[in-house]
Amino acid sequence: MNLEEIWPLFGLEITTPRLVLRPVRDIDLPGLAQAALDGVHEPERTPFSVPWTDAAPADLPRNLASYQWSLRNRVSAENWSIAFAVHHGDRVVGSQDLSAHDFADRRTVSTGSWLTRSVHGQGIGTEMRAALLLFAFDVLGAEWAESGAASWNEASLGVSKKLGYELNGVTRVAPRPGEPVDEQRVRLAKRSFVRPQWSISIRGADPVWPSWG
Ligand SMILES: CC(C)(COP(=O)(O)OP(=O)(O)OC[C@H]1O[C@@H](n2cnc3c(N)ncnc32)[C@H](O)[C@@H]1OP(=O)(O)O)[C@@H](O)C(=O)NCCC(=O)NCCS
Repeated sequence: MNLEEIWPLFGLEITTPRLVLRPVRDIDLPGLAQAALDGVHEPERTPFSVPWTDAAPADLPRNLASYQWSLRNRVSAENWSIAFAVHHGDRVVGSQDLSAHDFADRRTVSTGSWLTRSVHGQGIGTEMRAALLLFAFDVLGAEWAESGAASWNEASLGVSKKLGYELNGVTRVAPRPGEPVDEQRVRLAKRSFVRPQWSISIRGADPVWPSWG
């Protein structure tokens, strides 16, 4: 047997004009950890609801690997959380997640993402989120996509705005103890999706259908 027969998600590949997105495999972990260690955001405040980038550099790669392994354990037909490694040229520059619960009934996906700082501001964040929205709406049959970002996070909210999301309320989170922040929730209907000019190509989707409900 090969690995893709055991875990079909490892065979899935979504290609955009500049990027290749594949569910994180162990071979991607060193590149992903390096992308994180090189810096994802300014240290003064964290954009994440779980402040995983605050870990000491000696601990971050192991924590990251452990989190990625835990995601694989959470894949069932109705509930899944898939982290895609974002390949740009010959390196991994970040991650774009797609997750859902009760997908067959709710037809709703959630996304989260990060990129190493050296590639911010080049439209890559928009390209990778748009790619997974095309996949979710047009291939998986999603009807809604949700996301959220700290209210100060103009880059993340900028990506959401460009793609057509509407504001969907505010909640309070405290990723760092004693430092509560407002989180702006956003929501996108399939019909409101501001579609990119390009399309994705997909390989290896058929064997993964049982994973997506
Ligand atoms: C959020 C993130 C993935 C966005 O990726 P990116 O490649 O930097 O974003 P893009 O270049 O696609 O920018 C999209 C839009 O956001 C806006 N934007 C980007 N950076 C901005 C900034 N610093 N200030 C204001 N607006 C900004 C722009 O309007 C841009 O649209 P434009 O192309 O018309 O100018 C990336 O910045 C990142 O990894 N940040 C740190 C981690 C993080 O915040 N993750 C999200 C947690 S919710």
